This record gives sequence, C-alpha cells and structure tokens, in this order.
Amino acid sequence: LVLVVDFGAQYAQLIARRVREARVYSEIVPHSMPVAEMMAMGPKAIILSGGPSSVYAEGAPGLDPAIFEAGTAVFGMCYGFQLMAQGLGGTVAETGAREYGRTRVHVGHAGTLLGGVPTEHNVWMSHGDSVTAAPDGFEVLASTAGTPVAAFENVDRGLAGVQWHPEVLHTEHGQKVLEHFLWDIAGCRQTWTIGNIAEEQIERIRAQIGTDGRAICGLSGGVDSAVAAAIVQKAIGDRLTCVYVDHGLMRKGETEQIERDFVAATGTKLVVVDAEKQFLEALAGVSDPETKRKIIGREFIRTFEAAEVDIIKSSPAGSTVKFLVQGTLYPDVVESGGGTGTSNIKSHHNVGGLPDDLEFELVEPLRTLFKDEVRLVGEQLGLPPELVWRHPFPGPGLGIRIIGEVTRERLDILREADAIARAELTAAGLDRDIWQFPVVLLADVRSVGVQGDGRTYGHPVVLRPVTSEDAMTADWARVPYDVLERISTRITNEVREINRVTVDITSKPPGTIEWE
Ligand code: XMP
Repeated sequence: LVLVVDFGAQYAQLIARRVREARVYSEIVPHSMPVAEMMAMGPKAIILSGGPSSVYAEGAPGLDPAIFEAGTAVFGMCYGFQLMAQGLGGTVAETGAREYGRTRVHVGHAGTLLGGVPTEHNVWMSHGDSVTAAPDGFEVLASTAGTPVAAFENVDRGLAGVQWHPEVLHTEHGQKVLEHFLWDIAGCRQTWTIGNIAEEQIERIRAQIGTDGRAICGLSGGVDSAVAAAIVQKAIGDRLTCVYVDHGLMRKGETEQIERDFVAATGTKLVVVDAEKQFLEALAGVSDPETKRKIIGREFIRTFEAAEVDIIKSSPAGSTVKFLVQGTLYPDVVESGGGTGTSNIKSHHNVGGLPDDLEFELVEPLRTLFKDEVRLVGEQLGLPPELVWRHPFPGPGLGIRIIGEVTRERLDILREADAIARAELTAAGLDRDIWQFPVVLLADVRSVGVQGDGRTYGHPVVLRPVTSEDAMTADWARVPYDVLERISTRITNEVREINRVTVDITSKPPGTIEWE
C-alpha cells in the first residue's frame, strides 16, 4: 500500500493512478490525518502531493515531521518536496521567483531516483518558493534555471523528492522517476495487476455477503453497474439478481446488449422490466426539459422498487435480500470525503405489502477503482467490448436528446440517426478520442429540403461530438470532415424523416454537453 497525502491540489488522484500504473496499490488520505493513523494503515511508502505554491502562503497546510522518522519511505512532489525540505532542516527560500509550466531541468547526479533519465529534459512545474539548500545527508540530483535544488534523495532513509510534477503527462520520464522511487527506493512489489484486482474484489464481496446473503443490482446499461454486477455474480452466483428497467429511451441495440450479451458473458440472473409504455405515457405532452427529467426519475424509482419487491417476495422461504450492489467509483469516494466503511441506505417503497422502509447494506465492488481500471476489469471478466468502452450516457437517455415532446416515433428516428453516427465514429477508430457524441433531434423544427425527386419538409439533427476529461468542461471535437460527411450522407439517405445534419461547435461552458 502506498498512501498519497492530499494537500488540496487536483493532483492527488492523478498520482494515485500513476502509482497503480506502476502496479502498486495506492490510496488517498487527507493531509489532516495524524501520522500515527497513516502508519496504522501499514503503508510501504508515502507520497506527499502538490498543493499551494508556497509553504509560506497564508493557511498553507503543514506536515508533522514525525512522518520522516516512522521508518516508511517518503516521496515529496512540488509542494510536498518543499515541506520535506523544510521538515528535514533544509532551506526553502521565499525567492519570489516563479516557475510555471514547461521547465528545463538539468540532472547533475542521477543517483537512484533519476537513474537512466536524460541529463537535460522537460518537466512540468508550478511553484513560487525554491529549495536553496538540501537537508543534511541528502544528495542534490537536479536543478533548473530558477531552482538550485530541484530533486534530492537519501536512499538509506528511503526519502526523496522532486520540485516538479512527475505525475502529469507533460513531464518527460515522470513515470520512470516515480517507479524508481516505488521499486528501487521504497522496495514496493509489483502486485497490483488487473487479474489480482478482480480476484481480490471477488473475495472481499464473498466475505461481505456471506454464504447465504442475497443481493440485488440495478443495471443501467453503462460500464460501472455492469462490472460491479459481474464481480458480485462471480462471488455469490445466482444469489444475485440484476434488474434492468427498459424505459424505452435507450439507444439502438443497447437493451439487447444487456439482455443477451451481458447475460451470455456473465451468466447473471436478470429481470428485465419492460416499462416503455409506462414511461411514454408519463412523458406524453411534456416538452420542458426539467419536467421530463423529473418524470423519468420518478418513474424509474417506482419501477425499480416494484421489481425489488417482486424479487424479495419470490426469493426462497427463509432467505432475505439484504444487499444492494452499486457501481460507486474511487473518485466519488475521495470527493465525498473518503471513508472505508460500508453504509446503509434506505429505500422508500410506494408499493404495498412490505414495510415502508427497507434497509439495504451497500455492496460496492468498485469503491477502490478508477474508471480505467474498471474498464480493464470488465475486459478481464469477458464483458462485451461495446459495453466496456461505452461513452457516458445520461440516465434520462434519449428523452433529453429529443427537443420537444418524446414519442415512440421520434425515438425511433433518433435511434436510427444515432446508430449511424456511432457506427461511423467506430469505423473511423475515433471512439476513444471522443468523450461523448450525442445526436440531438430537433423534433419541433422543420426545414425544407430536396431528397430524391421531391421537396421534403423534415427535421434536423445536431451532432454534438465533444472532448473532455471529466464532463465538467468540454470542447467541441474536431471530427475529420470526411467522417462528418459520411455521417451526414448516411443519415439523410437512410432516415427518411431527417433532411438536414448540423454540427454543434460550442464549448462547455457556455454550452452544456447535452442540449437539455
Ligand atoms: P451536461 O449536459 O451538464 O452533462 O454538460 C455533463 C455530463 O453528465 C451527463 N448527464 C447526465 N447523466 N443523468 C445522468 O446520469 C442525468 O440526468 C444527466 N444529465 C447529463 C451528460 O451526458 C454528460 O456526460
């Protein structure tokens, strides 16, 4: 285990991922955690992340120097490097000099940390103060124009640090430096592999649920719930029942992917609730986006809970369904303040015949995993690649990609156009470059066109391909013209009701990714 101490910058998650890429398990802890508590977790090494630009900044978080005496290897990056220098008796000068962005670093003495790294290379910096003298017993390894001490190590004590950010993509040889620390200085073993991750989770879930517990899992059609279910299925077999609510707002082929391919790949017991009619009736006559979302959310909960009740009623006499599986990921856990325990949630039932409140214990097999690890585990468990690599898709589905009232006919039109856009994107090999590619039907708009021999009066669709890291911000994707051309030609030829294809070139902000 490697602990990444989060000093409040956005880098801790990235560091934790890079450590795992070096096949060593990592977890993030807040800087407010006492050193004794960190040590109680038994870490093989500790990494101090970046943070504010100066250890002298007002309110800058400090560090208990006891951390350096606890017998565990410590690696400081950026702010963490300065804290280390300060805590060990070196000098951090308020030079006022700043280095931001790409910076040239000169390696004077490679030592263990910078072994095999070129003497001159580019790294990513963001700091104000500089370390001007290394602590006693430390070897200075590198410098930059503005920083006399940009890296140091004391291999005997297992302590090392760099002023730059080895975890970011723009830093050359960053992963190599991190691996030198983990493998050669801290002596971490490379045991965090995808095969082991899956095995470990299966064991953990088996222990949590016990030999006679039963669980329910809602499948959304996305990768997280599918992988979570696949892991639990491996752990407890058909004591798991999955529920998939078909609200009729999915894209072409997606329901079949779950109903047929997911079940074939995992052998999961699946209940499919065909609720299309119920959803469309509830949505009839509604075109306001927020009202649509509310209706879809409400109907979804009702339907899912009714399915839960049926499963509970039909499970073998004497057994109780006590567990609810959820696809919570590690970033959600970190962002909501961490915590390692399991929590209970209450499910409020509107359906008669059972207690008002049913209490479930949550089962969260992906709680320690990042999205890219979830995908690799999904592949390892043999899930269909279209499912594993699926783009994010909103819960309300195509319901918020039809501008205007949602009807069966409009959904069918949009499904055809969307399937063409997806197929062409895949054929062009661009799936993994594009974050999401909504196709939006302007159902209340018509424009004049000419198709075949005659005048038409059809609907436009909007293509909305975007690039993004986290959906908080996004840019419109520069999809090659020839790919756009094929999509446009095929949609207007193959979907009779559509006679115009447009591309949305708005970034987020100001536009959101979805149109509603
Ligand atoms: P916007 O449109 O706000 O979307 O830029 C950001 C991300 O969230 C997805 N999204 C949703 N996901 N339920 C979901 O599960 C929703 O109601 C919902 N609305 C938007 C959207 O697809 C994008 O990835």
